[in-house]
Parts: sequence; structure tokens; C-alpha cells
Amino acid sequence: MTEYETILVDTRGRVGWITLNRPDALNALNTQVMRDVVAAASAFDADEGIGAIVLTGSERAFAAGADIKEMESKSGLDILMDDHFGGWATFAAVRTPVIAAVSGYALGGGCELAMMCDIILAADTAKFGQPEINLGVIPGMGGSQRLIRAVGYYKAADLVLTGRMMDAAEAERAGLVSRVVPAAELLDEAGRVADTIASKSLPSVYAAKAALDAAMETTLTEGLRFERHVFASLFDTADQKEGMSAFREKRAPDFQNR
Ligand code: CAA
Repeated sequence: MTEYETILVDTRGRVGWITLNRPDALNALNTQVMRDVVAAASAFDADEGIGAIVLTGSERAFAAGADIKEMESKSGLDILMDDHFGGWATFAAVRTPVIAAVSGYALGGGCELAMMCDIILAADTAKFGQPEINLGVIPGMGGSQRLIRAVGYYKAADLVLTGRMMDAAEAERAGLVSRVVPAAELLDEAGRVADTIASKSLPSVYAAKAALDAAMETTLTEGLRFERHVFASLFDTADQKEGMSAFREKRAPDFQNR
């Protein structure tokens, strides 16, 4: 398995695990973290043996944001010319479902990274926020756009304009978090959710994620049209026949990802 500088990577069954590993900087997201996460996620995405990815950090921090020390001295032109956060778009576009397992701080780019994932499991210790306004800037990895789609304008504006943090319970009420679990159970629960997804037929999982993504991107009419086409296309898979005959025969399906 490839060695990375800023993350730990391993495979458990059909699940790929990525653990952010810059403990001294609360997993601040510098350019190397972006490169490493994108490379690891892309490698898992290209591997048919992987049906789900878990992205996590440490107990203290999922990620405390983009690396402020790396950015501080940059000019606007530098940020523009090196497309500073542009690489994250590759991570957001992986076809394999990604579960963010968030413990501790998910601030700024950390919150934005969690929002690039499909399911956000939060430990009861998790804290979410977009504190960029305290630094004289605004969110730059999607926070002003994805947060509104997740929690609506008024909660997003409250967070983005004040820079305050919200705890896991508030994040769950607001709809940012899929589920909150006791901190000690976070990784086991993330593993269980990932195993469940990875046990399904991969073509249908890719299709489901693509349809969910379409809902975030397009109009209802276009989204419904897209869903109908993708739904129809799955009837050309062997796994659709297997899934439906297994139901009729009252047995568990044996999916072949074909
Ligand atoms: N960038 C760089 N280093 C960071 C960092 C960040 N975002 N967050 C924490 N660190 C570093 C600290 O500088 C410190 O390093 P040193 O020991 O070398 O000084 C180390 O991590 C531990 O942090 P603290 O001592 O500050 O820990 P704390 O428990 O007192 O506070 C915290 C924790 C409240 C999360 C605080 O670290 C903090 O406010 N961090 C910054 C949060 C932030 O503003 N995030 C947004 C960044 S900008 C962004 O993300 C833009 C975007 O949209 C992509």
C-alpha cells in the first residue's frame, strides 16, 4: 500500500479507511493533505474491491480547517494561480460513498471536507463551524454553498457571519449530521455503516450516489429525468435480477457487482 505523508490509509474488507494524521496541527488541511487525501480516495475509487470509504481524523479534531500558517502570506494572485483548494473537487467527485466520522473540531475547511462526504457521523464531542470570518476571510472550500444546502440559509448565515461553533446535537437538529453517536463508538459505527453500504451491488451504489448528487446540483425536473434514466439502466445489471429473485425466494442476495 502507498505510503502517504499526512494520512494513514488501510483497507478493512471492502472498506477503505483514510485517517487524517497531522496531530500537531489538529489535522489542518495543507496542500500535502489535499494531495494525499485525493490520491488515496482516487485509488480506492478505482478499486472494485472497495465499496465504501471512511474518512476520519483524531479524537480531538477531524480537521481544524485549512492550514492558516500555509495561507497567511499568500497574495490573492497566488491563491488564484495555484487554484489553492481546487484539488478538493476531485475528492468531492469520487463515485464511492464516503462516510465522514467526525470527532472533535470540524472547522472551516474541516467542516467543508465533511460536507464533501455523503454521510456525516458525529461523535457527541464534535464541534462544527465556519470561523473564517474571524480571520478576515470567508469559507473557500464550499462552506458558503454546501452549508446552505445542508441546513438552510438562516442557520448557515448564523454560522458563516458570526464564526461561532455548533455542537453535535445542534448540528444533528440542523440536518448537517446524519447521526450522533457516543465518541467511544464512532469508529465502530462508521465501520458498520460502511460495511453495510459495501455489501450492496456496487453499480446500484454508484447510481444512488450520482442521483443524490444530481439533487444537489440541478432542478427537480432535470433531477427526476436523471433518476428515471439511471433507474432504468440498473435493470441491465445481473445484480438487479439477483436482488429481485432473492427477494422472491426469501434469501439474501449474492451480488457480483455486475
Ligand atoms: N491551521 C494551522 N494550524 C492550526 C490550525 C489551522 N487551521 N488549527 C490549529 N492549528 C494548530 C495551532 O496553531 C497549534 O499549533 P502550535 O502548537 O504550533 O501553536 C495546534 O494546532 C493546536 O491548536 P491550539 O493550540 O490553537 O489548540 P486549542 O485547543 O487551544 O484550540 C481550536 C483549538 C479552537 C480549533 C483553534 O486551534 C482554532 O481556532 N483553530 C483555527 C480554526 C479556524 O480558524 N479554522 C478555519 C481555517 S481557514 C479555512 O478553513 C478556509 C477555508 O474555508 C478552506
